[in-house]
Amino acid sequence: MIRLDGKQTSNRIKEEIKAEVSAMKTRGERVPHLAAVLVGDDGASLTYVGSKVRSCEYVGFDSTLIRLEANISQADLLKQIEDLNQDDTLDGYIVQLPLPKHIDEEKILLSIDPEKDVDGFHPANFGRMALELDAFIPATPFGIMQLLERYEVPTQGKHCVVVGRSHIVGRPISILMSQKGPAGNATVTVAHSRTENLPELTRQADIIVMALGIPEYLTADMVKEGAVIIDVGITRVPDENHPKGYVIKGDVAFDEVAAKSSFITPVPGGVGPMTIAMLLKNTLQARQWNLP
Ligand code: GUN
Repeated sequence: MIRLDGKQTSNRIKEEIKAEVSAMKTRGERVPHLAAVLVGDDGASLTYVGSKVRSCEYVGFDSTLIRLEANISQADLLKQIEDLNQDDTLDGYIVQLPLPKHIDEEKILLSIDPEKDVDGFHPANFGRMALELDAFIPATPFGIMQLLERYEVPTQGKHCVVVGRSHIVGRPISILMSQKGPAGNATVTVAHSRTENLPELTRQADIIVMALGIPEYLTADMVKEGAVIIDVGITRVPDENHPKGYVIKGDVAFDEVAAKSSFITPVPGGVGPMTIAMLLKNTLQARQWNLP
């Protein structure tokens, strides 16, 4: 069994990006600039955004954190986004989700200029991705593709069962893995909450992508010998014995499933750490697409 180490791989990708930024500086080019919009003060969102900004600094990008009050009106938030769309010094930006309840998330995401949408959440980017055109690919599926590619996990002709059909993980990864190219050419089945007899399906899979959000749902009896396991789950499970009061659990019962697998992503340290590296990669790509 080989662990797909997302921490090490993401660090390697950050070093590659850092080297590229350094070369840009040597050539006298402007370095990539990412902005992040954070509405309110949700603890988890603050942690994520803080980590994104620190990673930008690490690789040599310019970064701007825009913090807005939780009670900002939708109109004012839309105005802020329009300013970001017009800002020529910015290559890309993200609006951290979830947004407060009084704001229509879909309307906000639709207002982001697709050329600056480094999260890849705008329908224009989703459509371009599905049509195999240049596009910003959402960080989580992009991170999975990079892990599969860099570890040379065989995917061509393999049966991949994706469990979950969310717009930011299940659906896009099912499209990407069925496309031509590295980590692609798989035969993909998308399973979801209405799927009948899921264990029968997962037992036929060469590759299983779990993106369900139910801790330790996938057990050893649901997996065939030698399967590749990608675990996208990150659920906080209360645990009094832990200083933080919770532990992070994936969708896979790790120990028992790992024993049967050929490759497996741990949680934490698998898909999770890849996402920020992919956001940086998209921002670098935005800079390159937007030259000069
Ligand atoms: N909230 C949780 N993950 C993400 C992400 O990848 N992008 C944004 N904008 N918000 C998130």
